[in-house]
Amino acid sequence: MEINQAIKNRRTIHIFSKKSVPSEVIEKSIVAANQAPCHRRTFPWRFTNIGIKKRELLYQLQLTLKFGDMTVDQSILKKIRDKMLNPSHLLIATQLCTDNQVQRLEDYAACACAIQNLSLSLVADDVGCKWSTGKIIKDINTYKIAEIDANDEEIIGFIWIGYGTEPPLIKRPLISTIYRERK
Ligand SMILES: Cc1cc2nc3c(=O)[nH]c(=O)nc-3n(C[C@H](O)[C@H](O)[C@H](O)COP(=O)(O)O)c2cc1C
Repeated sequence: MEINQAIKNRRTIHIFSKKSVPSEVIEKSIVAANQAPCHRRTFPWRFTNIGIKKRELLYQLQLTLKFGDMTVDQSILKKIRDKMLNPSHLLIATQLCTDNQVQRLEDYAACACAIQNLSLSLVADDVGCKWSTGKIIKDINTYKIAEIDANDEEIIGFIWIGYGTEPPLIKRPLISTIYRERK
């Protein structure tokens, strides 16, 4: 697929089917992520491929974080369950920790580039994804479940991968409002 076409085709998928993505497609996308630019060769991105048993635990955690002890309607539970268990893969994207605040910002930018590379590689293979954040990525129990040491790495997103329904078109800003020339 031509690069500009992949950039245009990339959209955040919110509704995934249960169809599984071949592992070679995932591996190729990780190679693409690893080609991202970074300052001072910090290579700050890490991706943790979360197995289905751990995803079940993350689903339970999400329910606790969202609802606590409240009784929740079955249809709502199903919606959240489908969101968290339907996608073929869940990668947890992390950034290496540093005390240097300038580097931390630049490393986050580099990780975002890596995630975009990963997304575009998936698009080229007709696979969709979603970068999600929210309370769950900050929760210490997520680190425990994923066996990620919070002293070493910070979770910056969940990357849900699979086949799904393309979302409605988003109206983007006019180029004239985001680009200017100064002569
Ligand atoms: C850093 C970051 C965090 C995001 N977190 C969420 C999220 O928690 N939930 C969600 O539905 N979408 C999330 N998104 C996806 C955006 O909502 C999505 O990119 C936006 O709606 C534009 O849609 P598009 O990706 O199809 O162009 C996130 C995107 C980025 C870059």
